[in-house]
Amino acid sequence: MDIGELESVARSLVAPGKGILAADESGPTIEKRFQGIGVSSTEENRRAYRELLFSTKGISEYISGVILYDETIRQKSSDGTLFPALLERQGIIPGIKVDAGAKPMAGFPGEKVTEGLDGLRERLEAYRKLGARFAKWRAVIDIGNGIPTSYGLRANAHALARYAALCQDAGIVPIVEPEVLMDGGHTIERCGEVTTEVLSRVYAELAGHRVRLEGTLLKPNMVVSGKKCPVQGDVSMVAECTVRTLKGTVPPAVPGIVFLSGGQTPRQATEHLSAMNGSGKVPWELSFSYGRALQDPVLKAWMGQPGNVTAAQNAFLHRAKLNGAARAGKYTPAMEDAA
Ligand code: 13P
Repeated sequence: MDIGELESVARSLVAPGKGILAADESGPTIEKRFQGIGVSSTEENRRAYRELLFSTKGISEYISGVILYDETIRQKSSDGTLFPALLERQGIIPGIKVDAGAKPMAGFPGEKVTEGLDGLRERLEAYRKLGARFAKWRAVIDIGNGIPTSYGLRANAHALARYAALCQDAGIVPIVEPEVLMDGGHTIERCGEVTTEVLSRVYAELAGHRVRLEGTLLKPNMVVSGKKCPVQGDVSMVAECTVRTLKGTVPPAVPGIVFLSGGQTPRQATEHLSAMNGSGKVPWELSFSYGRALQDPVLKAWMGQPGNVTAAQNAFLHRAKLNGAARAGKYTPAMEDAA
């Protein structure tokens, strides 16, 4: 492991004004996204859509890295360029989702544990040859009656740490993603408590597995009220609760925190990030690694029509630019309507 190289990649991914595009939807997830716009999930449609995203002119001003999926990392643009090479040509770092999904945890009703450790060493080696310089593994934590249990959290934190150690061994920066879901009726305080416990366990396991934190990034949820909670925190409350939770749990050796959007609207995700970056000094870069919050406007502009590609790319560039502004706490809602 060359920790200097890992740290340099991690720092490039959270360079000022930039963040990550999560375009690593699995087969079933991209099918769901395409259904929303009436497009069938054929291999060619998936390829064409990803080409639209990755070939957007000027996008590297705001996007530092893209997380790909196993199918996508092997696909080519219409001029025959493999996607990782297309991204590199744009100055964007290719990454790869390597987990095999969150599956029901045996003996723990309602909880999930993420699979994919078997054979991971070999897969990481293959992905690095294909151009991946960073990876992602997502653990899913649901809040409900009696869940999460401490053993459920322990199992997920352990898997995240084993994944992270294997990544570093392979010369790949691990993005450690424990996502506390915003489904359900829990309060913002409960989300804060669970997120604190999750992150504490994750950092204990990472230390146990001798993971070098300077060569990692954290991808957490923001601390928000459950979607069905009657009391929703406003922007400043979400920013304050999230920063407080992170300060109490995430060591300063971590170069950056790249939030997921997790079901927030594109605008909320941008507002929250901007508020956090405007709220004072923190030891890490606070950035984004959004999937839906970057892509929803693109999908709606595209609708699977080749004639809409330019409009869709403009929508992507605009959303990325707003999040780029949020990196400096400089987003304002008036920027939403600017052409
Ligand atoms: P969302 O921003 O849509 O939550 O996706 C980010 C991601 O990569 C989830 O694993």
